[in-house]
Amino acid sequence: MRIVSGIQPTGNLHLGNYLGAIRNWVRMQDELAEGSEALFFLADLHAISMPHDPEALRRGTLEMAAALVACGIDPARSVLFNQAQVPQHAELQWLLNGTARMGWLNRMTQWKDKAGKNREGASVALFAYPVLQAADVLLYQTTHVPVGEDQKQHLELARDIAQKFNNDFAPKDENGEEAPVFTLPEPYIPPVAARIMSLRDGTAKMSKSDPSDMSRINLTDDPDEVMKKVKKAKTDPEPLPSEREGLDGRAEALNLVTIYAALADEPVDAVLATHGGQGFGAFKPALGELLVETLRPISSRFAELMQDREALDAILARGAAKARERAVPTLDAAYTALGLVRG
Ligand code: TYM
Repeated sequence: MRIVSGIQPTGNLHLGNYLGAIRNWVRMQDELAEGSEALFFLADLHAISMPHDPEALRRGTLEMAAALVACGIDPARSVLFNQAQVPQHAELQWLLNGTARMGWLNRMTQWKDKAGKNREGASVALFAYPVLQAADVLLYQTTHVPVGEDQKQHLELARDIAQKFNNDFAPKDENGEEAPVFTLPEPYIPPVAARIMSLRDGTAKMSKSDPSDMSRINLTDDPDEVMKKVKKAKTDPEPLPSEREGLDGRAEALNLVTIYAALADEPVDAVLATHGGQGFGAFKPALGELLVETLRPISSRFAELMQDREALDAILARGAAKARERAVPTLDAAYTALGLVRG
């Protein structure tokens, strides 16, 4: 198994990132068999596809590294790095740009959402973003990519690019068998919490780019902020149902129950069996407590790690050196397959 995944170092790490992705990164790291490896990275090259402030990106990169370690990513066991220190990502992207089709990228919902009506004014990087994401995973012969639901389409595109590249360019061995250049990666999307929604609107996903901080729980929020955000979360006047079907058409209620279930590591049915019949006046404080208890060790570890900037720099430098080593063979194979002569 080769596990690879990334996160943009913009804004705060929030509960959607944690439950949808990072918690699974940590679990997969902890359960990794002998001979398998996990690589996790800060997608700083992706972050320049939208208008950004260089100083905020610099700070965000270190903060996100600290946040991942605080959540349980162990740099001694996993390879933790930022893309900007591993130039092979950008290099492979260029090679894959010859294979990716304009039509495929035009269908990406993230491109449509983020470019909005102003496509002419969007950056080329925003359009080509999914090709860089394909390079991120294909570079390492990745087998599994733990992500939230919103990244599924990008992963499917990475598979399409890999398949077309293998078909068009993979060298044949002496028996005429194709020796694929790239492995087709499988997404791993968690059964619960694949899509955590905003606390202010049950139809919009929880996101770093939402202008209202009340819409999300940040992993660095203090207990008072967490309790306040949960108490102010949008809900409806009905009590909680005892069965799953009773949440149909109640997006906000479903979201809060899903968060509770994910934090308690229980199925939604079990949460409803215990809390069914309760109003939100009782359920919200229970959820708030559970959140505070989950976040407490993460925020204190984060604060400690942020005291030592040099140690964080060193973690990223060591991770990048390992990632560069792992990246070279596949990048070389891609150059060769394309007929590019490099002496
Ligand atoms: P990003 O930085 O938006 O999010 C990081 C991870 O968090 C998940 N996530 C969520 N899961 C559940 N509910 C939510 N509300 C929620 N919001 C975010 C995302 O699905 C993701 O797994 N393009 C990627 C970064 C990336 C990447 C890659 C990921 C770049 N290259 C290669 C995997 C493999 C992104 O912007 O994620």
